[in-house]
Amino acid sequence: MTEKTTSKSQKDNKSIAYYDDEHHDYEDFWVGRDYEHESEVLALNKLLSNRHFDLAMDYGGGYGRISPVLLDYADKLILVDPSTKQLNIAKERLAKYKNVEYVKVDKENSVPAKDSTLDLLVMVRVSHHLAEPGPTFKEISRALKPGGMAIIEIANEAHFLNRMKYLSQLKGVPKTSVPIGQKANGITDNTPFYNHNPNYIAQLMALNKLLIVDKLSVSNLRSSYLKGHLKLKTMLKVENTVQPILAPLNFGPSMFFLVKKED
Ligand SMILES: C[S@@+](CC[C@H](N)C(=O)[O-])C[C@H]1O[C@@H](n2cnc3c(N)ncnc32)[C@H](O)[C@@H]1O
Repeated sequence: MTEKTTSKSQKDNKSIAYYDDEHHDYEDFWVGRDYEHESEVLALNKLLSNRHFDLAMDYGGGYGRISPVLLDYADKLILVDPSTKQLNIAKERLAKYKNVEYVKVDKENSVPAKDSTLDLLVMVRVSHHLAEPGPTFKEISRALKPGGMAIIEIANEAHFLNRMKYLSQLKGVPKTSVPIGQKANGITDNTPFYNHNPNYIAQLMALNKLLIVDKLSVSNLRSSYLKGHLKLKTMLKVENTVQPILAPLNFGPSMFFLVKKED
């Protein structure tokens, strides 16, 4: 277990260590969100099934919530995050794994890996903090080996309920990212949050030589009413079935793309 800081602190760059906020507990955010967590685990297992990777990166991995899933499919995992607090929690939670390296990044759009070295990169719930994901995709593409894969999760502005909302206002879903405030999830109030249009995301992926291999619609039943009335097991059974079916409709609040770097 080692830690490196790859990019030098740059005074001119604004900090992206939002999750160092002492008043915010990201582990607490997940209390009562078993459905969302398990839905994401289902999606990751579906996309990674029958694959194995030498070197994987959990990019913006936070406290390592999804790292144990990734470790089922990789010989070695690099957990990257700008937050020292999250990295320290991750080190405790993942202590039993000896094949995890912890790396702090302090620069936006920077993937701390040499060119063409990663077999897999997974980025879940990070696009939420990116006003313009293009530069990050460029970095991901640079760091992946030719034929290497990435799972990129997108906070979906075009989800079904939002589409109905835009339609009722006789508007289309904005093409590019939509700022959704700076206080979502109770985190420090200078943290930017954005949703994205999956069609635009697909264009950015293509521009960066990331070919879409598969796509899943995730957390499709996210609703406090349903969560209050249905058993978790039932919700997950439905979720498991509909993730691929609803993907072409960009239905859910979260879209998981499996992409492959062009050979
Ligand atoms: C919502 S948490 C998600 C953590 C983890 N991926 C998960 O799904 O539980 C967002 C994480 O992204 C990190 N982060 C925020 N902005 C980032 C950026 N520009 N590049 C990389 N990571 C970032 C945060 O420090 C935080 O740990």
